[in-house]
Amino acid sequence: MASVSKAMTSSRRLVQAARLGVRGAQTAPQTAAPGISAPLAPSPATAALIKQEEKFGAHNYKPLPVAIKRAQGVFMWDVDNKRYYDFLSAYSAVNQGHCHPRIVKALTEQAATLCLTSRAFHNDVLAHYEKFVTELLGYDKLLPMNTGVEACETSIKLARKWAYKVKGVPENQAKIIFAENNFWGRSLAAVSASTDPTAYRDYGPFLPGFKTIPYDDLPALEAELKDPNVAAFMVEPIQGEAGVVVPSDGYLAGVRSLCTKYNALFIADEVQSGLGRAGARLCVDNSKVRPDLVTLGKALSGGVYPVSAVVGDDEVMTTIRPGEHGSTYGGNPIACKVGIEALRVLEEEKLAENAVRTGALLRDELKKLSPEVIKIVRGVGQFNAIVIDAKYDAMDVCLRLRDRGLLAKPTHGDKIRFTPPLVISEEQIMDCVGIIKSVVEDLLRVK
Ligand SMILES: Cc1ncc(COP(=O)(O)O)c(C=O)c1O
Repeated sequence: MASVSKAMTSSRRLVQAARLGVRGAQTAPQTAAPGISAPLAPSPATAALIKQEEKFGAHNYKPLPVAIKRAQGVFMWDVDNKRYYDFLSAYSAVNQGHCHPRIVKALTEQAATLCLTSRAFHNDVLAHYEKFVTELLGYDKLLPMNTGVEACETSIKLARKWAYKVKGVPENQAKIIFAENNFWGRSLAAVSASTDPTAYRDYGPFLPGFKTIPYDDLPALEAELKDPNVAAFMVEPIQGEAGVVVPSDGYLAGVRSLCTKYNALFIADEVQSGLGRAGARLCVDNSKVRPDLVTLGKALSGGVYPVSAVVGDDEVMTTIRPGEHGSTYGGNPIACKVGIEALRVLEEEKLAENAVRTGALLRDELKKLSPEVIKIVRGVGQFNAIVIDAKYDAMDVCLRLRDRGLLAKPTHGDKIRFTPPLVISEEQIMDCVGIIKSVVEDLLRVK
């Protein structure tokens, strides 16, 4: 009895602390049962870090209130040593699992040998990396960059150059088509293509020559492609940031045939969907489709370093000439060594295959949970999202998941991405389903 009433007092204190917000937070004992009526307030150590970030950092993110200090495989530990399952994987950068020993070894060995030459000189790794990646993916050439947004922007430059030099589009008339709700980063070009006001509002004027059409809409694409000035259609094979939106069967094959018919490039943005996440080396492989250009990033390094690339064939890739594009760090020896090892790990550990197996298990189990809370479960491979019923708040759900040891983040209101590292086991999936189930039961009790 005594311990029950103590727990209740402690839980009331935590609820009170949560209402006070970070600055008024009380100590949240790590052993306390998660409060049913409100998520826990951050611990003093976490609250102090959040406060310091708020003071000295620009407010361009709103992270979940948790501060991580180490990670391994599918787990992360916070500054109070509480362990969590990672159900975000740094937006699919950590497909190979946190701090994969082989990738970390590649990074540290290369860092101790040669870090950076810039592209002013050759280094002894880039050529091997380019050969390795292009042979693996079946393209003629690779252009190395650092971040996903740079890879996507590079692909647009390549498409414009190809349009002028090969297709014969009149100077400065090239058009690039995008799908609504696309997300490919935060540069001015990326926000010029965005249909999300949070991304573009107050950042104009925007880049001309961009047009958006509805996603998963082949007639809309065909109508645009009839314009002979169209250089390319850039599309995510599955829209990640939009909430893991999976297009209809046949959409990507339709995109391929329309782009071929109208002589426009098909650019697949595989920065998030690629490299095992969707249960295949590339997400487009699931549809047996070969785009003209593929952008890669995130898991190309397994989360240890910024590495991105565009791959394509000579007709497009050779249009770009020395001095026209590049990056000081793009193609640096660390990135190249890390990229090779990250891809080898994906292949040798059969992570795409594991994503198919464990992803299907996760979705099957989530579909058994109350539809009063989880309205929709969707995904391919280990690229999943749930849609929460409107009477619940997705951020509140994520805070409750955090309290029970699982980290996920809402995307666009009522959606939560569930994208654990691809090294996750079936047993761990079942453990995570247990956590999610407890949160669903809590929500049903508090509503
Ligand atoms: C599909 C897609 N493309 C491009 C990007 C941009 O990648 P980065 O944040 O590395 O610039 C993202 C990031 O989430 C993405 O999801």
